[in-house]
Amino acid sequence: MLNQRYAAIDQGTTGTRIVVFDENGRSHSPMSIPHKQITLNSGWVEHDPEEILANIMKCLSGCEVVDALGICHQGESIVAWHADSKKPLYNAIIWQDMRTEKRIQHMKDQGLEPLVQQKSGLPLDPYFSASKMNWIIENIVGVKQLADKGKLRIGTMDAFFLDRLCGTYCTDYNAASRTSLFNIHTLTWDPELCEIFGVPIHCLPEIRDTVGDFGSINLDGHITPVTAVIVDQFAGTYGHGCRNQGDAKVTFGTGAFLQSLTGTTIAETKGSGLLPTLCWKFPGQEPIFGLDGGVYNAASAINWVKKIGLLDDFDELSDFSKDSAISRGLAFVPALSGLACPYWDRSAAGVWAGLSLDIERKDLLQSVLEGIAVRSAEVILAMDKLSPLGDAISVDGGLSSNQYFKQFLANLIQKNIVAPANREVTALGAAMLARKGLGIERPISFKQDAQITKPNRSSMSGVMEKYQDIIARSRNLRS
Ligand code: G3P
Repeated sequence: MLNQRYAAIDQGTTGTRIVVFDENGRSHSPMSIPHKQITLNSGWVEHDPEEILANIMKCLSGCEVVDALGICHQGESIVAWHADSKKPLYNAIIWQDMRTEKRIQHMKDQGLEPLVQQKSGLPLDPYFSASKMNWIIENIVGVKQLADKGKLRIGTMDAFFLDRLCGTYCTDYNAASRTSLFNIHTLTWDPELCEIFGVPIHCLPEIRDTVGDFGSINLDGHITPVTAVIVDQFAGTYGHGCRNQGDAKVTFGTGAFLQSLTGTTIAETKGSGLLPTLCWKFPGQEPIFGLDGGVYNAASAINWVKKIGLLDDFDELSDFSKDSAISRGLAFVPALSGLACPYWDRSAAGVWAGLSLDIERKDLLQSVLEGIAVRSAEVILAMDKLSPLGDAISVDGGLSSNQYFKQFLANLIQKNIVAPANREVTALGAAMLARKGLGIERPISFKQDAQITKPNRSSMSGVMEKYQDIIARSRNLRS
């Protein structure tokens, strides 16, 4: 019987956590450290890479000796740094950052979207890494020259962490597939995409399998191998136990992040607004692909109602005595950062429709929860249509403990909603992958309880149809 321990560094948008698992899947989290959100201009979001790296080191130093480490990270966010000094050349530009919106619109106007989509699987949107990389190259003094001299390193944040922690300049296939520079058919950086986005291909990191040898970290004389690296959302997909075609999960964080698996085939997504994405690749095996669909605003919409004083306590979101707000004609579109999947429309804005003198604060709150559920249901139903999903969807994140929300969602999608009792699904995925990276194939003997919410009324397709009109009203509101 093995008696090993695995740690996961979960480096997310708001903070860095470490979670340690044993062979029975028991976990504990010795540390969690938030970091600064730097918003210099409207629509800009940056993080200090040195602050985050220091937080990772604090987490590792405060943790017991482990046999392997998996790192999951915030996906599309990027850093540029000097190849020799390894010092960042600018703050990390975060996935939420919209500074490249105009450039992206210009690329759309030039008719480049079909080509980018065909090769990378991704639509043109500031969300993905490539336009952010180009912004640093074009706007930060000296960066272009460093690129010309072969001294620029630029990549998603995992590549920076690995270079600094282990001296390995690489990323994994999953993170590469979130940049818009990776060709999901040839499984390589694509020279034409790099040219279009203005990112020199020679500056990009080597792409490796999701599990394997990423180097090691020396922690007070103890050498800890890093054996898995993956984007947090896909660590979550793995941690939820999604392994087969049709398995799906939703993580309700800042946004709602939805992934389903399509196996070794890339789904034909044309016109659906869903993104074919490479979920992970194991040594000697074909990659596992999936469908990805994000909703930009979930917890961020809840935090917004709190910020503007509509919500005092999160508990107020749990008991609603009236019928659903939407059935009473009140609906909310949570497009506070625009509409992501399947519309990919940054010109959209939040909308409350159906206001009248008898609407109370509680009704508004109810409609916000329902709006997040309807937007998530739109993506789930689109995925189901394209590549059929099983009869249950796994959920995690803040809203996964809100019973009203889960019941409403279950009714919308007519599928069971499964919420695992252990909330550490993302870290669990990263730790399981780290274990796999050590060459241990037998899964962690982890049986966990889950709460299942079944649909308790028949189809609400009428609601989905009605909501389409309100979505239409939310579009083109922002210039
Ligand atoms: O696509 C962005 C996503 O991976 C960020 O997730 O949990 O860091 O907000 P999180």
